[in-house]
Amino acid sequence: ASILMVAGEALPFVKTGGLADVVGSLPQALAQRGHEVKVVIPLYKKIAENNFDDLYFDCEYTVSINYHEVPVRVFSTMVGDVCYFFIQHQGYFERDTLYGYEDDGERFAYFQKAVIEMLNQLNYWPNIIHCHDWQSGMIPCMVKETHDSDPRYNAIRFVYTIHNMAYQGNFGPEMLDSCLGLPYYLLDNGNVRFDGGISFMKSGILYADKVTTVSPTYSQEILSPQYGEHLEAVLNMRKYDLWGIVNGIDTNSWNPATDPEIPYHYDKINVKAQKRKNKLALQEELGLEQNPDVMLVGVVSRLTWQKGFYLLMEQLDALCAAPIQLAILGSGEAPIENKFRDLENGNKGKICFYYGYNESLAHRIYAGSDLFLMPSLFEPCGISQLCSMRYGTLPFVRETGGLKDTVNAYNEYEKSGNGFSFEKYDSNDLIHTLYYACEVYYNRKEDWDMLQTNAMNTDVSWDASAKTYSLLYNELVSQ
Ligand code: ADP
Ligand code: GLC
Repeated sequence: ASILMVAGEALPFVKTGGLADVVGSLPQALAQRGHEVKVVIPLYKKIAENNFDDLYFDCEYTVSINYHEVPVRVFSTMVGDVCYFFIQHQGYFERDTLYGYEDDGERFAYFQKAVIEMLNQLNYWPNIIHCHDWQSGMIPCMVKETHDSDPRYNAIRFVYTIHNMAYQGNFGPEMLDSCLGLPYYLLDNGNVRFDGGISFMKSGILYADKVTTVSPTYSQEILSPQYGEHLEAVLNMRKYDLWGIVNGIDTNSWNPATDPEIPYHYDKINVKAQKRKNKLALQEELGLEQNPDVMLVGVVSRLTWQKGFYLLMEQLDALCAAPIQLAILGSGEAPIENKFRDLENGNKGKICFYYGYNESLAHRIYAGSDLFLMPSLFEPCGISQLCSMRYGTLPFVRETGGLKDTVNAYNEYEKSGNGFSFEKYDSNDLIHTLYYACEVYYNRKEDWDMLQTNAMNTDVSWDASAKTYSLLYNELVSQ
């Protein structure tokens, strides 16, 4: 099939989270299976600064926003077998960060309108438009409601992938007509209405031909109020078209045998010796006491309530008393950042908090740590635990969403597993499991080695899931 993916971010251009990893790597895996895949994202400031010279100009036209004709310019470039398009509008997109502005609704209404008209301008008619998250959630609705009489648009089928129910793109009702160009009855009949306004995500769920999310467990969880973020009733309406497909990672760029960001390369055979060297180098880089024997626990994360760090904070004394070092990379909510800063100041040499976003350092933390901490409250899939397994770093997770589907807890009787996990969102369980992991690390070295080998043997590639997406596309195209 020919597929156009629409998203708010994609590697290798811009990234704020796992969405960019997915939209950077899934298209390549699909292309290798014979699909023709293109991707479209906004042309952000970072892309304008870093990549602009490599982009081709494709076309220009206008779309109507607030009853004005607003110019659109489309650029593109190839990455491997995949064509990436960029929607350019300086005022909307060449800003310091990707999202979080007052006018996000207008910005992404513009983006989605521009994408829809781009097909016409380029005379490019994919079989499937695959939308990701709220930034592209209105597209199925806009096409079906406003281009219904055009057979070229009518032939397109839509897939909508939910990466996180916590971010829905909910905006005021006024933009329905002025920005989205949609009739008011869609508010009255409830198709796009949420809490008196418009929900991009709700609309995506209702109008797409198939809805997917990024793990089987999360696809079940979101049918309940606990995880559905007030859209569980809408999701239940679509539950027979809802697929849970677990994410993979690009195993070429995440490869400890070749990774240019890490000092000592390794594979399953020499992981033990080389990891010690990577650990020493990381300890030096982060100002931790240099000791290859201590268990080093890594964190690479957005520091938000989703990720379970408030749970960790209920156990700071026990955490500081544990025979571990802690290397934390991330930024996010101030209370979490402040706590981590205090922790570092009170435990110099044992705990390091590296504030910010740093892709290169992230690789060295995956490579140099023994354990990777991810006690999420909820986790649609999670990319970080996949990266850590690939680097022989045992994931330590709460059993939720994709974490449950990708991490098998150590079983000391069966001698199985590829990490550690706890089930209840309970800080005692967290800390007990952490001490248990320490016990295995220090006193049952053979078992630890087995877990490490199992982690590195875990298939974290796209192979299986790209096959499942192919099935889904084929089902739609043959309909
Ligand atoms: P989410 O998308 O919810 O943030 P994921 O686990 O799916 O969580 O993906 C997070 C991705 O972002 C991983 O590739 C991780 O390595 C990366 N990442 C998160 N925080 C940082 C950071 N501070 N610096 C570098 N990379 C980060
Ligand atoms: C979201 C989720 C994360 C998932 C990522 C990519 O950011 O929080 O769990 O891995 O999307 O699908």
